[in-house]
Amino acid sequence: MKNSTYLIILLALGLLFTTYKWVSAPETAAVNVENTTINDIMTRTSVRSYSGEAVKKVTVDTLLRAAMAAPTAGNKQPWRFVVVNNRQTLRTIGEEFGSMKMAAEAPVAVIMCGEPAATFPGEGVGYWIQDVSAATENLLLAAHAMGLGAVWCGIYPIQERVDKFRSLLSLPEDIIPMACVCVGYPDGESTPKDKWNPEYIHYNKWHSPTE
Ligand SMILES: Cc1cc2nc3c(=O)[nH]c(=O)nc-3n(C[C@H](O)[C@H](O)[C@H](O)COP(=O)(O)O)c2cc1C
Repeated sequence: MKNSTYLIILLALGLLFTTYKWVSAPETAAVNVENTTINDIMTRTSVRSYSGEAVKKVTVDTLLRAAMAAPTAGNKQPWRFVVVNNRQTLRTIGEEFGSMKMAAEAPVAVIMCGEPAATFPGEGVGYWIQDVSAATENLLLAAHAMGLGAVWCGIYPIQERVDKFRSLLSLPEDIIPMACVCVGYPDGESTPKDKWNPEYIHYNKWHSPTE
């Protein structure tokens, strides 16, 4: 065989291999749990039961750094945080709100707040909720990645909860408490929920089930 024939066969094989890799790549990416970030996202779950182990200030600082690394509309950063490690205050939160019982046993809770006046005026003011939500998810993921367990407990938009937290933490009127994130070392294993549902996905336009 001529050298040029060998070269053509080699090129064809190379092309075949590249095409195979390219076609199979999205499948591989979808289930790639080798990647630590993807793995942490897929294995995070709400943790509502904690061991007695304390959470160090340096660890809380890392959680807050992760929260403040979140995307934020116009880089306005309207998020504000109140770290609660006072036992009595945590107990009060746990007793006041049925959905936040775990606060009574948590070593620490971070109250994720927003200052709407710090973001865009007018219609854009609602971005504060998205910004504080992005920060909250970052904090949850950081906690999980560091071996902690956490749960997002909703405050805003339930007015009664907003008022109670405002009074409990002496929040000024222009600061809105959005969520109470209880954090601690998990007391046992929790299984992440599988929420994958391809029916929620539409490509290019919304398709009705009959299409
Ligand atoms: C806006 C919001 C409010 C929530 N409020 C509470 C709450 O008050 N108490 C609670 O135990 N969990 C609360 N959760 C956690 C959800 O129950 C939890 O995320 C959901 O059941 C899915 O489970 P997973 O986080 O383990 O994936 C809240 C979550 C979100 C996003």
